[in-house]
Amino acid sequence: MKGIVFTQFLDLVEAKFGYDVVDSILEKSDLPSGGIYTAVGTYHHSEMVQLLTHLSAETQVSVADLLKIYGRHLFGVLAKGYGHFLKNINTSFDLLENLEKYIHVEVKKLYPDAELPTFETTRIDEHTLQMIYHSERKLGDFGVGLMEACFEYFGEQATIEGTNLEADGSVIRYIIKKL
Ligand code: HEM
Repeated sequence: MKGIVFTQFLDLVEAKFGYDVVDSILEKSDLPSGGIYTAVGTYHHSEMVQLLTHLSAETQVSVADLLKIYGRHLFGVLAKGYGHFLKNINTSFDLLENLEKYIHVEVKKLYPDAELPTFETTRIDEHTLQMIYHSERKLGDFGVGLMEACFEYFGEQATIEGTNLEADGSVIRYIIKKL
């Protein structure tokens, strides 16, 4: 995982829960990086899993909810930092349909070591999009947070219904309905 994912995560934890909580989750996790992240570095995603697990224990917020909150936060950071990817994109469905074939492709060009999920995206009808998520990192809830922030960004409302196609969360079908 790219360092920006870690640095933004720790900033958010500090803003929401305070520095003592940051200190405590870094202390409790066994991190090959030593908990020192730079935006351009790459770190094993198991470090994120450990940080989230300890944060969940400390705050009593589920890992799923923490991932959604974090995804919502990160969308704003990405939309600002990579605004040029969104230049000709005018709706949430435009963005979601372009994620696999354009946005994440560009991300991979910039950062060949980025670990990205794959999505099979199908437009069911004018108001309904199906996205099938595949990733060994099982971060579907993070994607849901990103999607939620994406609707907000375009001033839209939608429901997202996720169904695990693999019990471990490595393949998830999302049915997204615009209201
Ligand atoms: C401006 C738009 C976006 C940009 C620039 C962007 C870029 C990125 C970057 C840099 C990462 C981290 C890769 C790594 O750590 O190695 C990532 C991961 C991810 N992105 Fe995007 N992203 C965008 C929008 C979205 C949206 C809207 C979704 C939701 C469908 C999404 C789904 C994901 C997921 C689920 C991951 C976690 C990796 C995994 O599950 O394997 N992204 N993205």
